[in-house]
Amino acid sequence: MSSKPFKIAIAGLGTVGGGVVRALSAHGAELSQRAGRALTLTGVSARDPKKDRGFELVGWTADPLELARGDADVVVELIGGEEGIARDLVTQALKNGKHVVTANKALLAKHGSELAELAEAHGVTLKFEAAAAGGIPILKSLREGLIAQPVAAVRGILNGTCNYILTEMEITGRPFAAVLKEAQALGYAEADPTLDVGGGDTAHKLALLSSLAFGTRPDLDSIAVEGIAHITPDDIAYAREFGFRIKLLGVTRRIGDGIEQTVHPAMVRQRSPLANVNGALNGVMVDAGAAGSYFFSGPGAGEAPTASAVIADIVEAASGGPAPVFGQPASELQKLTPADGKAAVAPWYMRFEVLDEPGVLAQIATHLAEAGVSIESMIQRGRAPGEPVAIVMITHETAQAAVERALKAIAASDKVRSRPCMIPMEAA
Ligand SMILES: NC(=O)c1ccc[n+]([C@@H]2O[C@H](COP(=O)([O-])OP(=O)(O)OC[C@H]3O[C@@H](n4cnc5c(N)ncnc54)[C@H](OP(=O)(O)O)[C@@H]3O)[C@@H](O)[C@H]2O)c1
Repeated sequence: MSSKPFKIAIAGLGTVGGGVVRALSAHGAELSQRAGRALTLTGVSARDPKKDRGFELVGWTADPLELARGDADVVVELIGGEEGIARDLVTQALKNGKHVVTANKALLAKHGSELAELAEAHGVTLKFEAAAAGGIPILKSLREGLIAQPVAAVRGILNGTCNYILTEMEITGRPFAAVLKEAQALGYAEADPTLDVGGGDTAHKLALLSSLAFGTRPDLDSIAVEGIAHITPDDIAYAREFGFRIKLLGVTRRIGDGIEQTVHPAMVRQRSPLANVNGALNGVMVDAGAAGSYFFSGPGAGEAPTASAVIADIVEAASGGPAPVFGQPASELQKLTPADGKAAVAPWYMRFEVLDEPGVLAQIATHLAEAGVSIESMIQRGRAPGEPVAIVMITHETAQAAVERALKAIAASDKVRSRPCMIPMEAA
């Protein structure tokens, strides 16, 4: 064991930061053994010095930037946010030659390559295992494990709030808004849920997975994002009838020379591992080409799982030298070439709410035929007189672009009552 202790400064003492302090205090001796040197907490910072956090505020400072100027070996940023104090702290700490550990997906997805260059220029490392899929060691697996064969695709359920809502909608048959409200009351969803249910949080995490899987710079802007707010209990019930479940997936895959990144609700076969990731859990499937398929699942958030990933990064920073942030030198990361996956074919689920009048179905059929969309099966269920009728169709293998063309034409009809819904049906 080295006689030189490894000094840790932590900014942000909320759910994750508090968990890290508690884990260091409970398991410090074993963790130091693993790191090969004593791990010592030397400074902490948060907003409110008076809050009872249940632990001693060792080396408290009201200004997190002071931690970047002090004598810590690693600064652990657990404040959050893609700009402001979190970005300033990480930038300053790296410039001052300190390792940085963070759980901040928004910061890394937006500024990851610039921060990676800064870390390498100063001979330190920047680690962020907790930033995607919480306690699941998926970033390490992509960075160091599944590297011998080119990765073909990564598909993930990366947002526990969305997965909880979709699971509850399936179990109880209740609509999105009611389940969201309950999730907020239980603390599973934020007061402002936009980033979660709109798919933005999944996009942040997907940008990081993409970068590590394909050796590209994180590219948040090229991700096509669709959330779950328009999914109805009917969609979920129909999915079940067809042998599928609806999940919000982040998908990144090679298409030709490019990479397609999307966040969207998808129908996943009930027998597939991803379909059985329920409640607030996360799951990630990696198609590592000739090396096969790998599935990871576990808690994607919460104090102990997230702190576990942060602690693993701290121990690694203490025991090893600087490792390239995204698996290879930042200067060699390729600019991601976005691929247009709209030509790729899949069967699609489509739902329209239409007026129950003669000729409506014929009109829909004409639009579908004009767009080159052929139908494999169809369900039409009657409702009370005067109420719109739901028509559900499953297409044969069809390009997304063709389905979008057909739906645009159908949506323009005055016989259609709500925005038509289209969801791809995953093959595996
Ligand atoms: N929660 C999870 O399960 C989870 C999972 C994965 C990743 N993450 C990421 O981990 C990070 C932290 O999340 P969290 O859930 O722990 O957040 P949190 O519970 O809201 O804690 C945030 C902490 O930052 C402190 N803080 C906020 N603004 C500050 C400022 N201007 N100066 C100093 N301190 C400030 C707060 O101080 P006070 O305590 O005094 O208010 C609080 O201690 C985020 O990047 C988040 O995306 C969280």
